[in-house]
Amino acid sequence: MIFTVAIDGPAAAGKGTISRAIAARFGLRHLDTGLLYRAVGRKVLEGAEPVAAARALVPEDLNVPGLRGSEAAAAASQVATIADVRAALVDFQRDFARFDGGAVLDGRDICTVICPDAAVKLYVTASPEVRAERRFLELSQAGADVTRDGVLQDVLARDARDMGRAEAPLVAAADAVVIDTSDMAIDEAVERAADVVAAARKD
Ligand code: DC
Repeated sequence: MIFTVAIDGPAAAGKGTISRAIAARFGLRHLDTGLLYRAVGRKVLEGAEPVAAARALVPEDLNVPGLRGSEAAAAASQVATIADVRAALVDFQRDFARFDGGAVLDGRDICTVICPDAAVKLYVTASPEVRAERRFLELSQAGADVTRDGVLQDVLARDARDMGRAEAPLVAAADAVVIDTSDMAIDEAVERAADVVAAARKD
């Protein structure tokens, strides 16, 4: 059975947590598509050419340590502006979305470009200040040497690049359900998303 849940949104809005929770609750496979761009960004930091790196990507590249760090994130956001990099990653994502048994994919262009016919489309967002504060707490608790203002500047720079690029910019699909987590505990946001998925499962 093909059942795709597509989730887009900016960095640190809660879409990763929501995606994992939805996948676990409904027995769906989950793909964090940001990891694909991070893996390409990582290879570029090591000297590879972006388009060649994207075309040569294999699933094992997604298990490399350090992919979730801020250096890989910034590199990902840069390679993600290149049309041929994005094109090289489309088939892998669409194949994953058609997994028999159902799948959740989260990223920036899942509802708009990769899976426009998904059964469920969500746009998970929060104010830049709230997202930066969450990211600051996460990073400082992990021992990183960061400041609140530095993290906010990173969030704003990544938003500007992801939303302002010509190719598949981050935007809420017209038919996506918007979940603004600015004033919500993460459990509440998960329940809101789960209600939308449960309703679509009944159809
Ligand atoms: O979700 P993330 O923070 O791991 O994503 C890292 C970067 O990858 C993000 O800033 C933009 C890019 N990206 C994208 O362009 N399209 C996606 N579907 C997922 C991520």
